[in-house]
Amino acid sequence: ETGYMTLDTGYKNTGSCASTITYLDGNKGILRYRGYAIEELAEKCSFVEVAYLLIHDKLPNTEELNAFKSLLERFALIHEDMIHFFDHFPSHASPMSILSVMVNSLCNYYPEMSDDPLENIDMTAARLISKIRTIAAFSYKKSMGHPLVYPRHDLSYCGNFLNMMFDKPVKPYTVRPEVVATLNKLLILHADHEQNCSTSTVRLVGSAGVNLYASIAAGINALWGPLHGGANEAVIQMLEAIHADNNDFEKYINKAKDKNDPFRLSGFGHRVYKTYDPRGTIIKKACDEILTVLNISDPLLDIARKLEEIALSDEYFIKRNLYPNVDFYSGIIYRAIGIPTNMFTVMFALGRLPGWIAQWKEMREDPSTKIGRPRQVYVGEPERPFIPLEKRD
Ligand code: SDX
Repeated sequence: ETGYMTLDTGYKNTGSCASTITYLDGNKGILRYRGYAIEELAEKCSFVEVAYLLIHDKLPNTEELNAFKSLLERFALIHEDMIHFFDHFPSHASPMSILSVMVNSLCNYYPEMSDDPLENIDMTAARLISKIRTIAAFSYKKSMGHPLVYPRHDLSYCGNFLNMMFDKPVKPYTVRPEVVATLNKLLILHADHEQNCSTSTVRLVGSAGVNLYASIAAGINALWGPLHGGANEAVIQMLEAIHADNNDFEKYINKAKDKNDPFRLSGFGHRVYKTYDPRGTIIKKACDEILTVLNISDPLLDIARKLEEIALSDEYFIKRNLYPNVDFYSGIIYRAIGIPTNMFTVMFALGRLPGWIAQWKEMREDPSTKIGRPRQVYVGEPERPFIPLEKRD
C-alpha cells in the first residue's frame, strides 16, 4: 500500500533500477566503481581512466587510454558560434545555469548524436566530457571579463582546465603537478554515486528517448540544488558566516538542531551514508596536503575541523548518524586552487559527467527499459459531486 515496489515487481516504474556501475554500502562506508574500491581509484588513476572505466566497465589499457585521450583532445573546442552565447548572459548569471544552457545547446551543433546515441558512445562521451570542461572555463573567463584561453594539445584533461581558467596573456599560469593531481582526485571522487537525485534525473529524462545532451542538462539542473551538488558552495557560505560570527559554533550547532529553523549543517548528513562518506575522508586528507604544498593557511579549514569535532561529539548528530559528506571539505580545496565559490557545483558536474553518461548508456542499452513512470499513493479527496460556479463558497 505504500506504492514502493521491489526489483521483481515492476521496479522500472518506480525509478529504482538494477545497475552494474556503482556499489555503495551506506552503513559500512563502502564505495566502488565497477567493483574497484574508490580509495584505490582516487590514489592510482587519472580522472580520464576512471571516466573510461565507468563508461566501458573496464580499466583502459594503454592503447584504449591513448585513443580516449586523443578523442578528448579532438573535441576540446566548442563551436565558435557558441562563444557568442556568453555575450548575452548577464554578468551575474549563475555558472550552473550557463552550463545547462550550453550543454543543452550542443545537440543543435552535433545533431548526429540524436540519431543513434549508442552507436558512437565513445565519440559522444568524449565530446561531452571534453567540451563541458571548456564551457566551464570559458564561462569563468567571460564572467571575469578576461580573454578566453583555448585548450592546448600538450596538457592533460585537468591541466588544460586549470590553464584555461587561470592563464593570462600578461601573467602566464604555472600548471603545478600537485594541483593537477588533487583536481584529478576530486573529479574521480565525484564521478558517480549510484541513483542520487541528478543521476536519477538523467535516467528518467533519458528514458523518454531524449538525446544525451538534453538528459545531461537536466541532471545539471538537479545537481544545482543546495541539498545536492550545491552543498559544497553552501558549506563555504556556512563557514564564512561562522567566521564572521566570531566562530560562534554553538549558535550554528543549535540552529542545525532546531526543528523550527530551516538551517542544516551543509556538508553533513546523507540519504544513504550513515557513517563517514568515504569520499569525505579522502578529500579531508587531500585538503590538508594541498594547503601544505601551496603554503595556504585558510581559517575556514580550521573552522571546518572544529565544527566536525563538535558535531561528532553531539548527541543529536550521533543519534542520527550524521557525518561529513563529500561536500564538507571539497570547497576548501577549490578555494585553495583559486576556483570561485559560485563554480564549486560546476566542478561537481565536471566530475559527475562520466557517471551520468554511464548510467544513461546502461539505461538505454537495457531492452527492458520502459519510460520512467514512478507511481504514487493517492491521498486526496474521494469522489465528490460537481459544484456549479454560482453555488461555490
Ligand atoms: C550529495 O544521494 C547522493 O548520493 C548525493 C551525493 C552524490 O554524490 O550524488 O552524495 C551528493 O548531495 C551529498 C549531500 C549534500 N547535501 C548537504 O550536505 C545538505 C545538508 N544535508 C542535509 O540537508 C541532509 O543530510 C540530506 C538532504 C543530505 C539528507 O536529508 P535526509 O534524507 O532528511 O537525512 P536523514 O533522513 O538522514 O535525516 C535524519 C535526521 C532528520 O532529523 P529528525 O527528523 O530525525 O529529527 O537528521 C536530520 C534530519 O532533519 N538531519 C540534519 C542534517 N541532515 C539530516 N540535521 C542538521 N543538519 C544536517 N545536515
